[in-house]
Amino acid sequence: MTAARSFRERDVPPRASVLVESLRDLGYSLQAAVADVIDNSLSAGARRIELLAETHAEAPVIGIVDDGAGMTEAELLEAMRPGSRSPLEERSATDLGRFGLGLKTASFSQCRRMVVVTRRDGTTSCAAWDLDTVAARDRWIVELPDSPAAVPWHERLTGNGTLVVWEKLDRLVGSDGSGDRQDLVRQLDETARHVEFVFHRFLSGREGGDRRVGMRLNGRELRAFDPFHSLHPATQHHPEDTFLLDGQEIRIRPVTLPHHDKVSQADWKLYAGPEGYVKNQGFYLYRNRRLIVHGTWFGLARQLELTKLSRVRIDIPASLDAAWKIDVRKAWAQPPAPVRERLRRIVERLGIPSRRTYTARGRRLTDDNRLPVWTRSQDKNRISYGLDTAHPLFSAFEARLDTEAADEFRKLLGLVAAALPVEALYADMGASAESVVTEALDPGDFAKLVEDMWRILSGRGLSAADIEERMRTADPFRSRREETEKVIRALAEGRPEGQ
Ligand SMILES: Nc1ncnc2c1ncn2[C@@H]1O[C@H](COP(=O)(O)OP(=O)(O)O)[C@@H](O)[C@H]1O
Ligand SMILES: [Mg+2]
Repeated sequence: MTAARSFRERDVPPRASVLVESLRDLGYSLQAAVADVIDNSLSAGARRIELLAETHAEAPVIGIVDDGAGMTEAELLEAMRPGSRSPLEERSATDLGRFGLGLKTASFSQCRRMVVVTRRDGTTSCAAWDLDTVAARDRWIVELPDSPAAVPWHERLTGNGTLVVWEKLDRLVGSDGSGDRQDLVRQLDETARHVEFVFHRFLSGREGGDRRVGMRLNGRELRAFDPFHSLHPATQHHPEDTFLLDGQEIRIRPVTLPHHDKVSQADWKLYAGPEGYVKNQGFYLYRNRRLIVHGTWFGLARQLELTKLSRVRIDIPASLDAAWKIDVRKAWAQPPAPVRERLRRIVERLGIPSRRTYTARGRRLTDDNRLPVWTRSQDKNRISYGLDTAHPLFSAFEARLDTEAADEFRKLLGLVAAALPVEALYADMGASAESVVTEALDPGDFAKLVEDMWRILSGRGLSAADIEERMRTADPFRSRREETEKVIRALAEGRPEGQ
């Protein structure tokens, strides 16, 4: 026998003054908050988006103005509602929205007063949330100012479009505005870089048929930052993988970035990103071309020095939001189980290209190097490095020693090789391989070395061309080719170098 389900009902709405404060703490950074507001502008079809900031005023303000579709007053009121649209509702293919929360949660995370001025077909509407009012009255009250005249930058709305203004920036400069303004400027700068990164595909508009969107910060044009360095000729684009999840297409495109030698110093640093190549390897997940997560293998692989040039673009439509567990901030996601398996296979395949870029160079050290100072030998589980005592410079020197000294000399070479600081090298290379360099020989000593080498080899009956060819592929001559050639030329012409 089941008990009758009898009950009374009470409407228990959230306490406005309390809930509104919790909505502030969903974990948005300034960057993520600005990006969320920009998402709305893009969903509204904007072609130009301006970030505006008055950082040194007594009461600093931040504004974001777009030339999108704008809203009617009824739409504006709906937009102001926390939870204006359900995450279950189907969205258009270009909509970057998700929970009907972003405008509010993003804004409240940074400020206590958010004003929206919007214009549609010549009619301007204005509404504001002021958290101090909500707190004092404990009601969800939206102010509707009669005129937007007092709102900074309202005059920028000439056609259709929307302006979002953040006032009372307590989180950025303190509630009394006494916070470090220089820090605010720095944070805005970082935000600009974040926008250039997250929206790079909108900013470049390079993909066929896609509209280009211009964005500026206080008048400064923002430039797309493409983490795949797509246009560089040394970037390796691997084949694209496409598959369906719930009937929706997921596209995966692995890329291996150009090796250090192939790019300028400035580009090498730029594409490393602030966290460096090792941390920035991995998947780059885009939802409707907007970057959500980057620099993670989603636990499918470790971020190794060896694979640091691998970046894999994943494109998903917004309809797969729930499956990927995209969060309110759009800063976190996780691949659904069937996708994980696909990604795992791609990762396994991928270890290879990135690794190949490095071993190709690793091998060059020994394979086509016919005059190595170092030898590398490998058997099943061991790789060892040693000094090559048969090197012409070593053997020629040894020949000049008496038996006892020659013996000492071999022992010393053995000692140097045995003391190769393998662990320190491993640690340093792991942290930043490019900054590990070998000690440069002084030009005089180097010229002497080239000369000795040349004399030894020509003493063995090698032609000038042969000698040059050998030295061209062997370090230290290989990496100081011009100097080497200069000395050889002088020797071949029978005059001492430098005359
Ligand atoms: N810049 C804008 N231009 C036009 N409409 C906007 C703009 N910003 C917000 N809106 C409207 O407000 C709604 C709520 O926005 P938001 O709180 O960010 O939630 P979501 O983007 O998830 O829908 C949007 O769905 C959109 O209809
Ligand atoms: Mg939104």
